[in-house]
Amino acid sequence: MTHSERIVILDFGSQYTQIIARKVREAGVYAEIHPYNISKEAFEALAPKGLILSGGPSSVYADGAPIPSFDVFSLNIPVLGICYGLQLIAHQLGGQVDKAARREFGRAMLTIDDRSDLFFGMRAATQVWMSHGDHLTAIPPGFEHLAHTENADICAIRDPQRRIYGVQFHPEVAHTSEGRVLLKNFVLTICGCSPTWNATSFIDAAIADIRATVGSGGVICALSGGVDSTVVAVLLHKAIGDQVHCIHVDSGLMRKGESTQIEELFRKHFSMSIDVVDASELFLSRLDGVSDPEKKRKIIGGAFIEVFDAEAKKFSDAQFLAQGTLYPDVIESLSVKGPSATIKTHHNVGGLPDTMKLSLIEPFRELFKDEVRAVGRELGIPDWFVERHPFPGPGLAIRIPGPISAEKLNILRDADEIYLDEIRAAGLYNSIWQAFAVLLPVQSVGVMGDERTYEYVCALRAVTSTDGMTADWYHMPYEVQARISNRIINEVRGINRVVYDISSKPPATIEWE
Ligand code: XMP
Repeated sequence: MTHSERIVILDFGSQYTQIIARKVREAGVYAEIHPYNISKEAFEALAPKGLILSGGPSSVYADGAPIPSFDVFSLNIPVLGICYGLQLIAHQLGGQVDKAARREFGRAMLTIDDRSDLFFGMRAATQVWMSHGDHLTAIPPGFEHLAHTENADICAIRDPQRRIYGVQFHPEVAHTSEGRVLLKNFVLTICGCSPTWNATSFIDAAIADIRATVGSGGVICALSGGVDSTVVAVLLHKAIGDQVHCIHVDSGLMRKGESTQIEELFRKHFSMSIDVVDASELFLSRLDGVSDPEKKRKIIGGAFIEVFDAEAKKFSDAQFLAQGTLYPDVIESLSVKGPSATIKTHHNVGGLPDTMKLSLIEPFRELFKDEVRAVGRELGIPDWFVERHPFPGPGLAIRIPGPISAEKLNILRDADEIYLDEIRAAGLYNSIWQAFAVLLPVQSVGVMGDERTYEYVCALRAVTSTDGMTADWYHMPYEVQARISNRIINEVRGINRVVYDISSKPPATIEWE
């Protein structure tokens, strides 16, 4: 991405790494996360104005502890090490790291002994969030100590010559009450960046980048109907006009009326041409009898690629495929950014088959959902669309556990429409991250009038979240639940029982499959 000023964060596997990137961007400076072992050439090509070393679960003494592949301390740019990052600084530059007598986890009161730069403008005693097993017992040569707690004498260090800083606590998490000030001090004052990054500057940089990458070539944009791919398509159109060809594959796994809505938004609102391919029969026949969630994803991902490939051939100038991949998709699918286990394969991430000679363009690979929404608003996409809840690539297929069928899909579409209508009518839609109905492969006995019924159970899911990586079940008012349940049972043939899912992520996931 062509950003005039950028901070690079090397990821050593902390669960908080992505929050560091967000907080730096909130301070107005573009930040990107890269694996800790990025090569020196790739790092230098990014030309960052500052480097942040993230935390991580390892001890610097552990076998196979993550260590950068080159000397990151002689680059002549400021460095900030956080937690593991601090220990790495000490370990590599001649300090001493030891096992703490007891692990420190949670809030601690930090006493700041030097408030001249990194801690400038912060209170002399301030609350911080600790999470570590090892701690510093000796400062490396050339460094001075800046802060301490009751448990640890050395909580923050600085080498004023080389502008290397390290903190034992996590400034990026909300429990560190003045963490924002510290990160701002680092990126604005110490690294000398200007606070100019926002949705508009992102768009300008992304447009320049897209133009440089594609030249006069064609780009195919896969429009899923979700917010992310829509924003990508509009961004591309702004960058390269008619060089972008939008394709929407109607997989038959969409919500009610969704494909028509997408077509109208693009044709009428944006005057863009869009190619809608009805591939529902292909998808349904491939999915016939398939129960395993990962198999479903693979089949759907494969079928999408196949249909795109066939469509792409119609645009012989196309060399690129644009996708709305977001940061959380990248980590959950590939585990490349940190040592976290693969939970689900998100079909929109990963390699294209060799036969498909299209290079990927993913302008939002580093962004979070709310950042993409801000970009979408800035591009003039209407609020009702930008605020839509996320919808997974495999669509309703992963909301019908077990084998799917056209009949089940229709039942689910009707129930889901009522559910979302009622949530909107109650004014709750925007306080929920994602709400959807799931059609369970379970039939239960009911009674309607004097008749016995034996129909499906519908589960309602609604969660709050900031990035989809963790989520709480939404405490939906009983009266709204009652209205939804009544309407679904009365209006949808095939459902005679409605249940509400009260599981959080983790340990459950947001989708049922
Ligand atoms: P989970 O169910 O993993 O969902 O907690 C986290 C977020 O990711 C979405 N999701 C997917 N998105 N392809 C996608 O494009 C997928 O296969 C997929 N699976 C889950 C889910 O809707 C939620 O927003």
